[in-house]
This record gives sequence, structure tokens and C-alpha cells, in this order.
Amino acid sequence: MKKLLSIRIILFLAVAQASCEYNYEEETVDGGVNNCDIEVSYKDYIRPLINNNCMPCHNGDGSEPFAPDLRTFNGVKGIAELVKEVTLSRRMPKSGSLTNEQIASIGCWVDQGALNN
Ligand code: HEC
Repeated sequence: MKKLLSIRIILFLAVAQASCEYNYEEETVDGGVNNCDIEVSYKDYIRPLINNNCMPCHNGDGSEPFAPDLRTFNGVKGIAELVKEVTLSRRMPKSGSLTNEQIASIGCWVDQGALNN
């Protein structure tokens, strides 16, 4: 009887741990997602990502006249599909590359309607 109980405890712990790992895979370390069932936040995730990776060129200061201005939500929302496309194809950012998770998270945010959330 005692042995059966300890087997149950081990099984319980194994299942608990597996479900933690499952969550970990869906939400990436930097707060993005691999799974579009999870809502991506513009304020908490997309905005900081753009600030860190796109601003040197997409800041509307005229030094890159053909780079669309991405300083505001409306500026990003207006060309959301294009933002998804150029990051997915790794055409942007010109200065380097985003991680797979960052690219997936941008795609999810656009597919979820490019919300100001
Ligand atoms: C080193 C400068 C630089 C960085 C960094 C950069 N871009 Fe660009 N981007 C440009 C320039 C210059 C253009 C216009 C010329 C072109 O399309 O190549 C452009 C064009 C674009 C376009 C319009 C493409 C089209 O076909 O009209 C989009 C959308 C875009 N960038 C998104 C982004 C996003 C999103 C990021 C950040 C993840 C980013 N860019 C980072 C320089 C940059």
C-alpha cells in the first residue's frame, strides 16, 4: 500500500513537471509566444521590440526617407501585414535579425488583429 502511494506521488510530480514544460514552450523566455492561441500584447511586447530593433531607421527623422515611420501605434497598425511579411522573410530589420520567437510573436499579433492591447 505504501509503495503504491509513492508511485502515485511520483506520477503526480511527473505530470506536474510536464505541464510546466509545456507552458514554458508556449510562452518564450522574452515574453513572446510560439502559439497564436496566446494573446500577444502590443504595449508589453511589440512596442518594445520595435523600439529596440527598428527605431534607428524607422523614426521618421528623414535620414531613411523610404523607411515607414513606426513610432506610433497607428503607424505600425496601418502596415501590419507588411511588417509581418518583412520580418517573416527576414528582410527586416536591415541591421540584423530577430529570433524565431520574436518573428512568430509579431505574426501572431498581426493575425490576432494588430490590437492596441
Ligand atoms: C538599418 C535600418 C533599418 C532597420 C533597423 C529596420 N529597417 Fe525597415 N526599412 C529600412 C529602409 C531603408 C526601408 C525602405 C527601403 C526598403 O524597403 O528596403 C525599410 C522598409 C521597411 C518596410 C516597408 C517595406 C516595403 O516593402 O515597403 C517595413 C514594413 C519595414 N521596413 C519594417 C521594419 C521593421 C518591423 C523593423 C524592425 C523589426 C525594421 N524595418 C528595421 C531600414 C531599416
